[in-house]
Amino acid sequence: MTEGFETDVLIIGSGPAGGAASLFLSSYGIDNVVLTRYRWTANTPRAHITNQRTVELMRDMGIEDEITGKGTSHELMGQTAFCTSLAGEEIGRIRTWGTHPQRLADYTEASPTLPCDLPQTLFEPILVSTAAARGARIRFDTEYLSLTQDADGVTARVRDRLSGSEYEIRAKYLIGADGGRSKVAQDIGLPMAGAMDLEGSMNIVFEADLSKYVAHRPSVLYWVLQPGAQIGGIGAGLVRMVRPWNEWLVVWGYDISQPAPVVDEAMATEIVHNLVGDDTIDVKLKGTSVWSVNHMYAEQTSVGRVFCMGDAIHRHPPSNGLGSNTSIQDAYNLAWKLALVLKGQASPRLLDTYDAERAPIAKQIVDRANKSRTQFGQIFRALGMTPDAPAGRTIDSRKDDTAEGAAQREELREAIKLKDYEFNAHGVELGQRYQSAAVIPDGTPEPLYDKDPELYYHPTTWPGARIPHCWLTRGTETVSTLDVVGKGRFTLLTGIGGDAWIKAAEVVSEQLGVELEPFVIGPGRDLEDLYGDWARLREITDTGCLVVRPDAHIAYRASTVDADPTTALTEAFEGLLGRR
Ligand code: FDA
Repeated sequence: MTEGFETDVLIIGSGPAGGAASLFLSSYGIDNVVLTRYRWTANTPRAHITNQRTVELMRDMGIEDEITGKGTSHELMGQTAFCTSLAGEEIGRIRTWGTHPQRLADYTEASPTLPCDLPQTLFEPILVSTAAARGARIRFDTEYLSLTQDADGVTARVRDRLSGSEYEIRAKYLIGADGGRSKVAQDIGLPMAGAMDLEGSMNIVFEADLSKYVAHRPSVLYWVLQPGAQIGGIGAGLVRMVRPWNEWLVVWGYDISQPAPVVDEAMATEIVHNLVGDDTIDVKLKGTSVWSVNHMYAEQTSVGRVFCMGDAIHRHPPSNGLGSNTSIQDAYNLAWKLALVLKGQASPRLLDTYDAERAPIAKQIVDRANKSRTQFGQIFRALGMTPDAPAGRTIDSRKDDTAEGAAQREELREAIKLKDYEFNAHGVELGQRYQSAAVIPDGTPEPLYDKDPELYYHPTTWPGARIPHCWLTRGTETVSTLDVVGKGRFTLLTGIGGDAWIKAAEVVSEQLGVELEPFVIGPGRDLEDLYGDWARLREITDTGCLVVRPDAHIAYRASTVDADPTTALTEAFEGLLGRR
């Protein structure tokens, strides 16, 4: 026994990844300890965009209202403007985060939730305090130093930063959620692909009442296209709403080949005045920081009993708002697996599927966010602000009554439309499909995408996909399919004629000791499909069944009733739990 204490899961980091991992594990009844080097959670509002999938996870945890209540609501998120400054000329607008009427239909059809905008400074305390209320132990001012692992567990050496004393914590598993400079990922030697420090960027957080410039076009993002706005940074200058309309975050780039600037009050105020286009506004500076743009992802996310998640395995610019969302979704993927293994219901082999399922997502989102960053280039070109723009083109020439003017206007519209891939990438946000040993293929090929897979979510019950959302009824209550599944247990869904699956589920649950709750969807049964949407979405017959994992992804699908459903389900569960 070392000096210190023991836990089931030791989590390094209390950011979106670590805080969420602790929340999920605590909700599943797993003993866990969170360490964070600082005295409290995030002190700057970095991530804000909270996409539908993340809100769904919070709904599963029973805290959706807290998240949406503290966040800025969806209808205020969407009139994203491109301008020479907030007070200056407006060049174009794009309706973002599913607020275009056509896209709103896509978003509301796809999920019981809507995106919201919640600063990390408000989100992290909700994650961490709810986790603590559900049993997690949170150690602030505590720094992870090193780890060793053996066949039975992990021993981490840590330092109490208040007293300077060092001690050890023994855990069965360790999660490295320690951000973009992850020491855990380095210590376990995760292979990383890509490059760090591609561009320089600075954040300036300030208070100022900007209502007169923004309230008529409510949005979370105002992009500023000025000379110099293409240097470094995330594609253009950005005035980012933190709280409507008096708290803001300016993102401005710098040349990474030069030393990082010292952003003092005078410089910060000048940049803010410049991007707002009004040097009379009263700027109350709250903080500044410099950071760099990365394009790096882990090709492997775990070694032995140590699992990394969040920015530790995907490092990319904030474009697309995927960072904290993907971090939280990593945690959701791993937490139920750890819970099942720690409760003795699954073999540790189940944990290998974390890597198989999340490493491809890490690469996908890093590539997507970086591509989005560079896709501002077309807008600058359309405005005549790049060396390759046609001769004579200027920002004003788009107003000309000439063939060139008309062509320029068309090019600008197309360039702005391209930003849908950053601001309305519904397929990226919601359409993750897994292929791993925790998904039992049903022999059907992966369904094709009939629209752009990044822009559009394609519902399917193909094994590995997230269960499609639709509204069902239970008595007088209206519930989403996503409300039926989750909560840390497996569910089985069948229809009228699928009673054999229900009996099989009871046998399998009893014999394998796994929580599996069966439901019949049909007239007069547990749940009713009064709108007929489930029949349209389920892609199985009335007598078939879906087994849904605790993270709402389909584990197993049978189109019709099996001759021996108990054997079929037993084999499926033994396979996905690694018990064969
Ligand atoms: P994060 O860095 O948040 O947390 C790391 C944790 O580890 C901290 O608690 C830290 O104290 C701890 N730690 C580190 N080393 C330690 C050690 N040795 N010992 C103990 N503790 C240690 N994302 C998004 O989804 N939507 C958005 O809109 C945006 N917008 C955005 C804007 C800007 C300007 C930036 C810079 C970033 C974003 N992001 C974003 C990205 C988002 O902020 C980022 O992806 C998440 O914070 C990553 O969460 P993690 O928990 O992985 O790491």
